[in-house]
Amino acid sequence: MRTQVAIIGGGPSGLLLSQLLNRAGIATVVLERQSRDYVLSRIRAGVLEEGLAGLLREAGAGARMDRDGIVHHGCYLASNGKKFRVDFRAASGKSVMVYGQTELTKDLYAAQDAIGATVLHGAEDVALHDLTTDAPCVTWKDQNGQHRLECDFIAGCDGFHGVSRQAIPTQIRQNFEKVYPFGWLGVLSRTPPVSDELIYAAHDRGFALASMRNLMLSRSYIQVPLTDRVEDWSDDAFWQEFRARMPEDVATKLVTGPSVEKSIAPLRSFVSEPMRWGQLFLCGDAAHIVPPTGAKGLNLAASDVHYLFEGLSDHYLRRDDRGLERYSERALQRIWKAMRFSWWMTMLLHRFPEHDRYDRRMQNAELTLLQSSDAAQRVMAENYTGLPY
Ligand code: APR
Ligand code: PHB
Repeated sequence: MRTQVAIIGGGPSGLLLSQLLNRAGIATVVLERQSRDYVLSRIRAGVLEEGLAGLLREAGAGARMDRDGIVHHGCYLASNGKKFRVDFRAASGKSVMVYGQTELTKDLYAAQDAIGATVLHGAEDVALHDLTTDAPCVTWKDQNGQHRLECDFIAGCDGFHGVSRQAIPTQIRQNFEKVYPFGWLGVLSRTPPVSDELIYAAHDRGFALASMRNLMLSRSYIQVPLTDRVEDWSDDAFWQEFRARMPEDVATKLVTGPSVEKSIAPLRSFVSEPMRWGQLFLCGDAAHIVPPTGAKGLNLAASDVHYLFEGLSDHYLRRDDRGLERYSERALQRIWKAMRFSWWMTMLLHRFPEHDRYDRRMQNAELTLLQSSDAAQRVMAENYTGLPY
């Protein structure tokens, strides 16, 4: 088999890149280890920056988002029961779109099917070869045996646990990592969201977040110790703790219900540099992980895809390789700004076991500054709604 761009991973990064390249007349093959159903079963955040929403429309996969997505012009922050609103539009002129990642992935798969793109599921033992030559290739096996794909370029869109990042020699790779001393216990419930916009609540008992997927599907989180297991938390215990951490006017309106999904996710900040090695380009979670506090994971995957799509289309359509040569540098510039923002929101809103009274006063002072300063709210709004590509 031969193609122009081999894409490892059929998550949001791989599918969006495949869709954009195929619509530009550039041939791709997506190799995904899991089944489509498995990929679509993942529950992931869904706060889309305007840049990502625009890319989905450009890819011909934005119609359902525009129909079913909910535009949010602000969010609430709360500290020990007192909440205030950050008005994104007033502070930055931009908004975000609330639309579940599962729905976005469904839309991308449907768009790929509509143009007859090649997405191969059940690809096991994917391996990358000859990356620093002009004839790289990918091998894998499936129920039909062993396979080999010749290509010009390989996009490593296979997430944090994928093989692409590992294909870059360790002496070349620099990893930057911070692991946070807590996790997020998340509950999906078929209940009306407690607020019309997201509420990020700092509390002495720990952080909580009131989010949503649509007007009858709420996504709620509480910070828990890393030692907690999901089976330690009954639905009632979760709702009691969530209610205790939310402002009173919110807690009294809360409609609880059975969890249709309940899980604990650890929080980490991670970046692997460089994002290119020979003809391999890393994209999305394969190169970086952010704590979910700033809702940047999916949105950073989108800006990587934007830069890589630009570089690859310049190569094939305009015989210009400057975009590919600058890909890693350009992507990392935006990634580190989002890393800072996600780290800042995480440090601001969570209870850290090692924090003393002085640290907590600093958190309170930062929240008070954010509440009272238009300049501080502008910086937050510009980062939350997405810095320019
Ligand atoms: N071979 C083939 N496919 C693989 C391999 C492999 N060795 N390893 C992983 N994959 C697949 C996974 O099954 C997954 O479907 O690569 C895909 C990677 O998708 P994501 O992990 O979703 O990463 P990405 O597409 O970059 O999207 C980032 O998804 O995880 C969230 O928070 C993250 O919102 C962010 C977004
Ligand atoms: C979510 O809806 O899952 C969500 C929203 C915003 C975040 C994190 C998660 O910052």
